[in-house]
Amino acid sequence: MIRIAIFASGSGSNAENIAVYFRNREDIGVSVIVSNKRDAYVHERARKLGIPSYTFSKAEFDEGSAVLDTLHEYKTDFIVLAGFLLKVSQPLLDAYPGRIVNIHPALLPKYGGKGMYGDRVHREVLAAGETKSGITIHYVNERYDEGDIIFQTTCDLQPGDTPEEVAGKVHALEYTHFPRVIEAVVTGQTSLNPLSSA
Ligand code: GRF
Repeated sequence: MIRIAIFASGSGSNAENIAVYFRNREDIGVSVIVSNKRDAYVHERARKLGIPSYTFSKAEFDEGSAVLDTLHEYKTDFIVLAGFLLKVSQPLLDAYPGRIVNIHPALLPKYGGKGMYGDRVHREVLAAGETKSGITIHYVNERYDEGDIIFQTTCDLQPGDTPEEVAGKVHALEYTHFPRVIEAVVTGQTSLNPLSSA
């Protein structure tokens, strides 16, 4: 059994979608959800899914040991960031080398970096007059949004699209692709080669 820990700071719709995708599987599963926000809606989703969830402070994420104790308690093999807003600290990177992936709601390397999350990303994409946006699934390293890209795919933008409409298109891509890309990564079916490119 390959056990995945999901890190999420907010609503957790991706976390839920991933957990549902792997539900009832004997080879891969989501064993724990970890957040830096006690009131994040992801905890409610976890409760309904019957998956344990925990909150740690930024200081605990930075120092690492309490988070790692929990990851080890649930025999975590892989970490998936799904709307997780803190930078992953060195102790966690060292404990899970090449085994942490993130999803970014735009086509990196553009529209990434510190502070580029949620609707801010979509607003910047629209302000730049882009005709496409999309998703980027990438390995996590010590710099925001700069790890090696595993997978990208695009959606078309229309003149007059609002940030909310872009978010809807991007979420649809995330729900379709993130679970199967995670499956490919954790089972060693993809390394650094994009499954498809934007
Ligand atoms: C997603 O768009 C993800 O790409 C970004 O944050 C959003 C999280 O949404 N990193 P949710 O919490 O999964 O609903």
